[in-house]
Amino acid sequence: MFYRGRRLRKNPAVRSLVRETRLHPSELVYPIFVQEGENIKEEISSLPGQFRYSPDRLEEIVEEMRACGVRACLLFGIPANKDACGSSAWEEYGVVQTAIRRLRSLDRELYIIADVCMCEYTSHGHCGVLGDHGEVLNDETLPHLAQIALSYARAGVDMVAPSDMMDGHIAALRAALDGEGFYDLPIMGYSAKYASSFYGPFRQAAGSAPSFGDRKAYQMDYANANEAMREMQADWDEGADILMVKPAMAYLDILRMAADRFDAPLAAYQVSGEYAMLKHAVAEGLMHPDVMNESLIAIKRAGANVIITYHALDYARAWKEYQG
Ligand code: PBG
Repeated sequence: MFYRGRRLRKNPAVRSLVRETRLHPSELVYPIFVQEGENIKEEISSLPGQFRYSPDRLEEIVEEMRACGVRACLLFGIPANKDACGSSAWEEYGVVQTAIRRLRSLDRELYIIADVCMCEYTSHGHCGVLGDHGEVLNDETLPHLAQIALSYARAGVDMVAPSDMMDGHIAALRAALDGEGFYDLPIMGYSAKYASSFYGPFRQAAGSAPSFGDRKAYQMDYANANEAMREMQADWDEGADILMVKPAMAYLDILRMAADRFDAPLAAYQVSGEYAMLKHAVAEGLMHPDVMNESLIAIKRAGANVIITYHALDYARAWKEYQG
């Protein structure tokens, strides 16, 4: 006798019965790029099928999200002006703050998360303020990040997600938010964020590539796994509500380690390069479009509870037939 695994693969009904992993649209977060200005809806050349919207044009995307059942978004801002300390990031009526208010007025139920970082707002493209030798200063950056988070909170955001990789950032944000009475506002830490080439298309989309050097002195070395556990533990101890691994597909081992280790909600970010790579392969006819579903299911299977992906709306639209 031998193991007849094929008995339970015979048809869609039995496969569905024994399927171990399912992914519901409500587990997805859709990243949205908002650009300062008016009447802008511009396709992002580095991210096929993704657009930059000015705050006044967000209605369309809100409708699309409502229609397909994706209920959470993650905002990234593209400001009109940049300076050395990224001050347009915390303006009361900056581009993200304006987008938050607009989204809230369009859909009271939409769950609005905003990315907290400085690289889209600094003239040098680094994620913090610089010292005399071009190094990113950790402790000097923290008050700026706190200021950004507070300005989002005042605009009515539901959750903040610091992606800067400064040490102590969760504690700094938590203290600032609590200090203004926003003790109920959750923080999703980009806890294990690697210095990755998979961010390439995002940096083109947001104009946030560093003008010199790289991010290796603050983002993690992709050779390290144990270090990711320390980063996640630190974020958790400082008061993060959700821990994240980023990127996702090349870091499924990190996701699995984290899922086994932490009793905490776990997010995974399928980043721009992962999305673009698959989209291009499908467009070239090299892979079947189902590769998108396969990649998301793999991320869920590895242990993610929340998946941030540019594919969210397309996945959700096809979900009923696919029954992932
Ligand atoms: C900002 C930030 C980046 C991404 C999310 N937040 C870029 C970076 O760190 O250079 C990348 C997301 C993606 O590639 O989709 N620090």
